[in-house]
This record gives sequence, structure tokens and C-alpha cells, in this order.
Amino acid sequence: MGTHVSKKRFDKSVVKILGVYNIKGGVGKTATAVNIAHLAAQSGLRTLIWDLDPQAAATFYLRVKPKVKRSEKMLSGKKFDLNEVVKGSDYPNLDLLPADFSYRNMDLLLGENKKPALRLLKLLRPLAEEYEAVVLDCPPSISLVSENIFRAADALLLPTIPTTLSLRTMQQLLDFMEGHKLSTPVYAFYSMVDRRKRMHLDVMASGQDPRCCVLETAIPYATEVERMGIERRAVTDYAPRSPAGRAYQALWEEIQAKVGGLRPLPMTYDSPF
Ligand SMILES: Nc1ncnc2c1ncn2[C@@H]1O[C@H](COP(=O)(O)OP(=O)(O)OP(=O)(O)O)[C@@H](O)[C@H]1O
Ligand SMILES: [Mg+2]
Repeated sequence: MGTHVSKKRFDKSVVKILGVYNIKGGVGKTATAVNIAHLAAQSGLRTLIWDLDPQAAATFYLRVKPKVKRSEKMLSGKKFDLNEVVKGSDYPNLDLLPADFSYRNMDLLLGENKKPALRLLKLLRPLAEEYEAVVLDCPPSISLVSENIFRAADALLLPTIPTTLSLRTMQQLLDFMEGHKLSTPVYAFYSMVDRRKRMHLDVMASGQDPRCCVLETAIPYATEVERMGIERRAVTDYAPRSPAGRAYQALWEEIQAKVGGLRPLPMTYDSPF
């Protein structure tokens, strides 16, 4: 049967904007965002990564200067075309929206908008026509910035270190989302896993909150990931066959299979014959 398969822009069944988020710091968000964006680009998707963290780690890993001209204007609701500030990366198909130090005041700047929780979505909307995958590297916290991320993202990817405290933070996020009637699907996965630690094994074997999906792939604790700061490249580029490189590849494949939508947009109609 010939069917027209192209989807409407921002059809929520098509995941295109993936927010890599956790309330907690240092759980592997940036490592995940950079490696997943690299794999998306490598698989042929036109990919954009937006470094929303004033610490600018993703920008550093991708060898770009952490500077955005008129970033205050961009965030505070003036007319602004994100295309003006997109930079290329060393990887084909992968572009970057760099971080800027002004992002430390992002909550205040977003607060100046008429609809403060929707600013990032409004900025991203025109770009969704040009990119097939958008990855948001989010700062740790739960704030107006986070709410913007929840509303802009089609799905959230939540790296979680398997400890009891991390599970509590996950509950806080799910409670927050429920309380704010946010239906963005949440996909958690275990990150920085050390299988020699009893607690890691116990937490991974424990029951899961039905409000989120826990992916099967776990990212091991591995020095190859720490080396990203020296290499300033994706692990999936300099050590694709290492345990961490393979784990990110498996995570990307699982995301594509379960989260859906992250594939090149069909350019043609199916033949009716
Ligand atoms: N799987 C891993 N194994 C070992 N080290 C890791 C792993 N993932 C991340 N790291 C290291 O842990 C530190 C924190 O990782 P990362 O910056 O990705 O976390 P984050 O959640 O983005 O932190 P922040 O909240 O500060 O933005 C970094 O030094 C990184 O190299
Ligand atoms: Mg980070």
C-alpha cells in the first residue's frame, strides 16, 4: 500500500529533540550527549547538539569557543534566529550551538519572556526543519531552564548512577513532571556502572517506577570516557571498540529502537504499485 509517510513537524510521535537531563551533577550527561550526538551524525542524521550548560563541557569536547553573540537577546525573548550562532564541528553532519557564560543567568533571562517556559521550544522550532536529531546537553538543576527543556524535548534521556540517592532524585523528577502535567517520556539508563559494587547491582535489579522506562543498556565506569577531556573527541570516535564505546553504540541502537523517530526523514513517497 502506498502511504505518505512524511510526518508533520513537531509531531510528538516523532522524537527528534532529545534532552539529556538529570537534576544531579556529574552523572555522565555531557559524555552521553556528545557520544550520542556523534553516533547520530555518523549514522547519517543531520544532528545538532545544544550545550545549555555555562560550564561549556560539550563545547570544549567539540573544540569550539564557548561564546554566543547576543545570547542575552536570544534567551530573553527578542526576535532571534538560532542559525546565526550555530557552529560546525569536526564531524560531518554534526553542528553545535555553543554554551556561553551568560547561560549562568538563563533562569532570569528566560523569565523575561511572555511565556517563560516555552522560550527554548520557540527558538528550536525553526531548526527542527533543518535537523533530524537535536540533542540538548542540560545543566544539573531543576529550574525554569529545566522546565523549558522538558517542554522543548520530545523525550528525556536520564543517565542515572545506580545508587539509592540517584533513585530518589529520579522520583523527584517524575513527581515534578506529574505535578506540572508534563508528559514528555522519560528514558533512564544506568551510567558509570561498577559491577564490583554491591549497591550498583542491587539498584539495577530493583523494581522500576512505572512512570519511566529504564533502558537495558548500561554504560560502564571506564577511563576511556574520562579521556574525552584530553582527546576532545567522542569516545565513539577514538575508542569505538572499547567497552564504553560499544556501550554507547548499544545505547544509541536501543534509543533508535525504543524511543523512535530518530531516523532520516523520508524524502520520497512510497510507490503505489
Ligand atoms: N562512564 C564513565 N566512566 C568514567 N568516567 C565518566 C563516565 N561518564 C562520565 N565520566 C566522567 O565523570 C565526570 C562527569 O561526567 P559528565 O561531565 O559527562 O557528567 P555531567 O552529568 O554532564 O556533569 P555536570 O552535571 O557537571 O554537567 C567527567 O569527568 C567525565 O569524564
Ligand atoms: Mg554536563
